[in-house]
Amino acid sequence: MITLNTKLLSPFLRPGDYTLVAPRVRLVHQQLLARKCKGNDLLGWLDLPVCQSNTEIEKIRTAAGHLAAKAPYLVIVGIGGSYLGGCSAIEFLQPEWQPPKGRPAILFFGHHLSSAYSAELLNFLQDQDYCVCVISKSGSTVETGIAFRLLRQQMAKKYSAKEMRDRVLIITEPGVGSLRRFAETERYPHLLDHPKDVGGRFSVLSTVGLLPMAVSGIDIHEVLQGATAMRSLCMKQPDVEENIGLHYAASRYLLYRKGRFVENLSLFDSSLQMIGEWWRQLFGESEGKNGKGIFPSTTMMTTDLHSMGQYLQQGRRILFETFLRVQNQPDRLVVEKSQKDADKLNYLAGNRMDRINRTAWEATALAHHEGGVPNMTVAVKQRSPACLGRLFYLFEFSVAISGLLLRVNPFDQPGVQEYKNNMFAMLGDPQYAHLKAQVKKKLKKLHG
Ligand code: PA5
Repeated sequence: MITLNTKLLSPFLRPGDYTLVAPRVRLVHQQLLARKCKGNDLLGWLDLPVCQSNTEIEKIRTAAGHLAAKAPYLVIVGIGGSYLGGCSAIEFLQPEWQPPKGRPAILFFGHHLSSAYSAELLNFLQDQDYCVCVISKSGSTVETGIAFRLLRQQMAKKYSAKEMRDRVLIITEPGVGSLRRFAETERYPHLLDHPKDVGGRFSVLSTVGLLPMAVSGIDIHEVLQGATAMRSLCMKQPDVEENIGLHYAASRYLLYRKGRFVENLSLFDSSLQMIGEWWRQLFGESEGKNGKGIFPSTTMMTTDLHSMGQYLQQGRRILFETFLRVQNQPDRLVVEKSQKDADKLNYLAGNRMDRINRTAWEATALAHHEGGVPNMTVAVKQRSPACLGRLFYLFEFSVAISGLLLRVNPFDQPGVQEYKNNMFAMLGDPQYAHLKAQVKKKLKKLHG
């Protein structure tokens, strides 16, 4: 259902390269499976496809059913790992402009600090009937907190206090986070757990990603079944070239060692755009530390062949490319013959749109290879929940192996705190008051 074709990595990589690296790949594979690797307190994602009980899945379905039945709009509030997984699943499986019948349209909020977006969204929601699902593992993320507070301000004017509570679902970690405390002290009745041993960017197969999918009518059981199948393959097969998770990770690692520091994920279907965003976070945040890591970038094809194509073909040779494509599209759109052929496109007559896109991928892969860009292709059989589950698990597994090969902890993100320290100090958060004078001084030096 998902394949990896590495033919166009040759001659940049040779079979002997894989032979040399195989023992180390096998070692980190075993360490990961034995939970004896760096960051092993955050390995809950490894078992998510198989460890969630029917009762837990039923809880997700019930909460989703409640939100779906209550209002025509659902606002999902969250950022990073608390937003990208669910959003990318919905975009992959459903047309952008129309939610399935009987399902709410899903809007996203709290994934940045744009005041224009916030004002426009709240203005729109003013006259709509809506529910809110707020997702935050820590419960203290500022973007999420502000968006939720703004929504509560508005909801308090539209609904009774009891009704407002009934329209809000909170997903956060059990314990003492601010959102948890808020939900409990303010008695919000709909509360689900973000698993403690799963980091944000690895949470798509937990309640965090499954809830938005279930609200949209996506069969979450099928998503988990797909992920389970990929999990078995990734866990059980020790041979690097037979195990797609190890093969992808080893190829990236070898390319990195040969000076290919950028991986460009070329998305050959518009339904993959947000999956690209999810992938970018997963790989960037997992690998980029201690001065190491492949920089993950994405392009949307064929759109970006008309903008970034030039750089890919002839720019600095520090990159490699991974094409991500969907093999079978169910539509049968055909370019028909025109009598006059005024637009000179009759040479395409009789071709399915999907075939033309496939040809564009083949032509691009060949041209980039000849231009000095090693490339490989991950092909997803179709846009189905099962394929999506496989894809999510494949990338999570690969980045874990890849990070461990680089000798970094793939499951932490110590670097994301740096700008927050400055920002919170400047905004007056009392917990960061001790940094305020220092940050001000540094800024004065920079800006005069
Ligand atoms: O992967 C991560 O850890 C981050 O992207 C988080 O998901 C993101 O910062 C949001 O954090 P939280 O879920 O605590 O609000």
